[in-house]
Amino acid sequence: MPEKPIAKKSIRDVDVHNKRVLVRVDYNVPMKKGSDQITDDARIRASLPTIGYLRDRGAQVILCSHFGRPDGKVVDTMRLAPIRYRLSYLLGKEVIDAGGPTGAEPRAATERMNPGDVALLENLRFDPREEKNDPTMARELASLGHLFVNDAFGAAHRAHASTAGVAAFLPAVAGMLMAREVEMLGRALNSPDRPVVAVVGGAKVSDKLAVLVNLASRVDRILIGGGMVAEFLRARGHSGGASASLSADVEAAGELMAPGKNKAAVTVPVDAVVAPRFEEHSPAQVVDAAAVPAGALVLDIGTRTSAIYARELSRARTILWNGPMGVFEWDAFARGTKAVAEAIAANKDAVSVVGGGSTAEAVAAFGLADRMTHVSTGGGASLEFLEGKALPGVAALLDA
Ligand code: 3PG
Repeated sequence: MPEKPIAKKSIRDVDVHNKRVLVRVDYNVPMKKGSDQITDDARIRASLPTIGYLRDRGAQVILCSHFGRPDGKVVDTMRLAPIRYRLSYLLGKEVIDAGGPTGAEPRAATERMNPGDVALLENLRFDPREEKNDPTMARELASLGHLFVNDAFGAAHRAHASTAGVAAFLPAVAGMLMAREVEMLGRALNSPDRPVVAVVGGAKVSDKLAVLVNLASRVDRILIGGGMVAEFLRARGHSGGASASLSADVEAAGELMAPGKNKAAVTVPVDAVVAPRFEEHSPAQVVDAAAVPAGALVLDIGTRTSAIYARELSRARTILWNGPMGVFEWDAFARGTKAVAEAIAANKDAVSVVGGGSTAEAVAAFGLADRMTHVSTGGGASLEFLEGKALPGVAALLDA
């Protein structure tokens, strides 16, 4: 099927030759605790196509990103230097330290740039105006370039000076990553090949309620996993599990499962892996859904459930996945998530779109990321997209 173009302009729609281009990227990458060692550089690698496209056309590429939550102050452990070194290595070219992120430094550094050069500003959130979407900062950033490219899908749910504000002062278009994210998530949600199966995991129904409600009116089937399974089982009338479930969550779970109420059929586990404590080596046992002991924690879906979910996934033509099925970081509770990842990987006829954050971490941990059609780089952003919300960083771009 031909891909539908996104409704926003991308770098392919504008002349970038020899332009000075301000590019917002999301280099908020995970680091080993207490060190400056990057543990996963997927977000940096995901920005390379846009940087390469611009460099090939003689553009001067001025990158900017946030990292962590320094709260408007300069925090030495949140400087972008380790990211700049990694990017230099990946590009095989030294990335210029443009300093700032605002003030005289970036201006001086970027004025000295040659065609094909790449520079990186310091952490945008060192300036308190960034998260306030202050127009004075947006104007300052915009004054560095002739064109603004937003490639930071992971930060598109934030209305900040560098994601939304800057678009008021420069022509603003999507980078390659942003365009692909919006295209893949948008197609799976709005014009998918059917049947569409969504897999949704989460600790609590309330964390995922907006996604569940939106998906319930769009997809054909929703497979439930994660700690919120306990709330769905309660809504089914089973009394086991820890008593932390909120009655509003149980009620919402009941509404989602009510026959004829939603477009999507909701499938709930028939068995689960439970343990007395939330600990890696807490003794695990597989029990029937109706026999979860009082006080036990549901830490994974069970083996029979994994087989049922795998069968549903093998019939899908479009698969959307947000949230692991269990605590996949711990071996005893990883099987359900792995079974789902393997079932998606095995279905070569389906378009599979995996949300970012912990779901992306899971498919990467199982070595299956390359077998998915698209793994999003956005955690919160992909969640809000699946909730049906407009993302400020996308809304600000020029319409196609
Ligand atoms: C993310 O990692 O989800 C994005 O970079 C956004 O970060 P934030 O939640 O600190 O705004």
